[in-house]
Amino acid sequence: MASFVINGGRRLSGSLVAQGSKNSALPILAATYLVSGKSVIHNCPRLSDVESTIKILENLGCKIERRGTDLVIDSSSAFGFEIPEDLMREMRSSVIFLGAILAKTGRAVISTPGGCEIGLRPIDLHLFAMRKLGVTIREEHGRLECSVNKRLKGTKITLTFPSVGATENAILASSVSEGTTTIINAAREPEIIDLCNFLNKCGAKIHGGGESIIVIEGVKKLTATEHSVICDRIAAATYLFAGALTGGDISVKNTVPAHLGGILPILEETGCEVSVRCNEIRLKAPLKLNRIDKLITQPYPGFPTDAQAPIMTLATVARGTSVIVENIFESRFKHVPELLRMGARIRTEGRVAVVDGVERLYGASVVSPDLRGGSALVLAGLTAIGVTEVSGIKHIDRGYEEFEKNLCMLNADIVRTKKSYGNTKEK
Ligand code: EPZ
Repeated sequence: MASFVINGGRRLSGSLVAQGSKNSALPILAATYLVSGKSVIHNCPRLSDVESTIKILENLGCKIERRGTDLVIDSSSAFGFEIPEDLMREMRSSVIFLGAILAKTGRAVISTPGGCEIGLRPIDLHLFAMRKLGVTIREEHGRLECSVNKRLKGTKITLTFPSVGATENAILASSVSEGTTTIINAAREPEIIDLCNFLNKCGAKIHGGGESIIVIEGVKKLTATEHSVICDRIAAATYLFAGALTGGDISVKNTVPAHLGGILPILEETGCEVSVRCNEIRLKAPLKLNRIDKLITQPYPGFPTDAQAPIMTLATVARGTSVIVENIFESRFKHVPELLRMGARIRTEGRVAVVDGVERLYGASVVSPDLRGGSALVLAGLTAIGVTEVSGIKHIDRGYEEFEKNLCMLNADIVRTKKSYGNTKEK
């Protein structure tokens, strides 16, 4: 089983270009099924979640061609409406296809994606939005059979929580429908804006993407176009965290600094010097980080839940005690036991983690529990004394493109190995 072996203690410096956003590419790729013709998606990251999405597109009848970081998707003869269980389970966010399939074919058969490492991940808000648009849904033994009588009908959809995925599904379904849809309490993440920009370039009439109220005037048809995916704000933040942890000096290019609005002030609170110039963010770290007084994860533009695990690693070696509250997912502290193995001092109670900074972390064999928890462990290995082996890195490959190569470019000592050195068991 593959793992990363990291020799800690090196100061990271240099610059790199941020990858394309996983959480923008996935819904946009789902949207390429809905639009007619050949879409060209630039800056599409090479990730296992993107590969899983490509499998679903091919299963629905799309023809796909990969040209470096460009993906060409021809959906002209794609009219499938069913996603097999194994593909749904491979990537839970495949539920994002529901709205696109219903808008194109008037029916959909998918299975409930099931929970994952960070929580139950229900889809009640997705189904609520579809039903409001006129979809009949029959749920039986984890299978969902959805159908629309004639066309989806525009309506008002009020979300009790600004769910990113439910907002994306509502936008996709209502973009090709009869009448106008208003989404109230919509998610405001940059990935929503990117999806709306892509759909509007295809002929959709979506107003207010990125705001809490989005109005979509349904159209009859969408036509394929070219689009470049925005940068991955969480991947960009992760490399900045690597610099912060090693007293380093890191520049990340091709970013949208405003998309890290909830993150940069926290980095400054730890004593890092952060400067922004056009699409580049530069971080210069102190030799010793200050604690984070209180960090609460929130929907955008608050501090993003996806950056909670990696920034906790900074808190483990900061001066003083930090408090971290995970408000979005109910079990997103699975990286804590692994950090404890490396000498961190963390107490958790429900959604609250109290982190007492220690002098140093120590290398150990640890297991990546999920995508962002895995990145937190790699960061810990970069600052730890000695050798750290992180196994279970298939989780990390879901969201970080060429992670170890980029870190090596910044002077880290990290290699990907096929065999497991320690006695860790791949989960
Ligand atoms: C998206 O997941 C991202 N994934 C997640 O990134 C991210 O953590 C999350 O948004 C929040 O920003 C993709 O975009 C592919 P939600 P999503 O619906 O859409 C509850 C990563 O590491 N909820 O905003 O699934 C849910 O349980 C991944 O890149 C319901 O209760 O997130 C959670 O507690 C992890 N019912 C909260 O809302 C629903 O129908 C936020 O979920 C839907 C969600």
